[in-house]
Amino acid sequence: MYASNDIPFLDLVTPHVELEEELTAVFRRALFTAGFVGGPMVEEFEQAFAAFCDAKHSVALNSGTDALRFAIMACGIEPGHVVVTVPHTFIATTEAISQAGAIPEFIDIDENTYNMSVERLQEYLEQGCSRDASGRLISKRSQRPVAAIVPVHLYGQMADMDSILRLANQYGLTVIEDACQAHGAEYFSGKLNRWMKAGTMGRASAFSFYPGKNLGACGEAGAAVSDDPAIVAKVKMLRDHGQAKKYYHDIEGYNGRLDSIQAGLLHVKLAHLANWNTQRRDRAAEYDRLLAGNDAVTCPYEPSWSRAVYHLYVIGTDDRDGMMRHLKEAGIGTGIHYPVPLHLQNAYAHMNYSPQDFPVATRAAGRIVSLPMFPQLRADQQARVADEIYAFTSKTAGSREGSEKVVLS
Ligand SMILES: Cc1ncc(COP(=O)(O)O)c(C=O)c1O
Repeated sequence: MYASNDIPFLDLVTPHVELEEELTAVFRRALFTAGFVGGPMVEEFEQAFAAFCDAKHSVALNSGTDALRFAIMACGIEPGHVVVTVPHTFIATTEAISQAGAIPEFIDIDENTYNMSVERLQEYLEQGCSRDASGRLISKRSQRPVAAIVPVHLYGQMADMDSILRLANQYGLTVIEDACQAHGAEYFSGKLNRWMKAGTMGRASAFSFYPGKNLGACGEAGAAVSDDPAIVAKVKMLRDHGQAKKYYHDIEGYNGRLDSIQAGLLHVKLAHLANWNTQRRDRAAEYDRLLAGNDAVTCPYEPSWSRAVYHLYVIGTDDRDGMMRHLKEAGIGTGIHYPVPLHLQNAYAHMNYSPQDFPVATRAAGRIVSLPMFPQLRADQQARVADEIYAFTSKTAGSREGSEKVVLS
């Protein structure tokens, strides 16, 4: 769909052109049945998405942010409770925590996977917390009870869930997964001795269907996933003004419902998600191969227990901004996910964190760059991306002596 030689960061047009007939049929169905909010299209999608996740239930919502906020509230996290998460994520993670009334506190990330560091989590629980007279775990930083952990499966790769769940169980904490970037990602649980899908290991989880996600709507959408019927019922109430029966409001809720048209469009696209994820993994393997000889860049690290779905392909390099400028001039789109870690955002200045509080996240934010990544990305486009990266890094003294030049095919 892109006529020029440019390589976009993301191509949201081609998959929609390929599915045009099926997608427009969804509009017709909604228009002619006047089914715009709720109804069969939403329920059918909920069942199909739960099945895709190997979960019992999913609840369709209007965003991943609401999905995470409602999941946190439905898990019984109360105002004033501490919920720990990572600083290297999109701000929606901590917005969901704060807007559920809880207090976000941070755990630094692992420098290889960019996900929550189990060592830092253990250190936080052992040294950053104490027990009060009734035995509750209290954060020394905020003097508030610690209630939950929100690991983020960033870039399409799951966090080390066995280790996180082991610590959570040891300390009596609830785990709620931010799976907004990880539809279909898998983790080999040594404890369960099988591969587990993102969103099924915690008590509840949240997915985003923002257009650029591996499964993206043609607008805003998200879903909460859980096997627990009580959590599912609570999320359903929260999304619909606190009512289980029309006009009988047991609690004050929100309008977090998903449009039927978006549910229908997502259902059409869901049928292709497994294939698209496989294509993303193939594209990632191709980048790995092309960039393997370039010691000026760090490619993504996938532990043996992980099958990532590469929502993003993120490399690390010293002169990140220079590389991005070079790639832009060559017509190659890139992104930074994310340039400022949450502990250094203006929104959280009142928390008084310094860059050294979470040094790995601080350093990562200055080095990372996301390369073009989408299922339809072609091998010749990837070769050109790698070639331009070599062209740039070879200008940096001593960065790639002895490594081979990538030949454009
Ligand atoms: C890690 C993470 N959490 C939460 C969200 C929020 O999802 P949404 O944009 O659908 O509200 C996103 C979306 O970008 C995300 O990447």
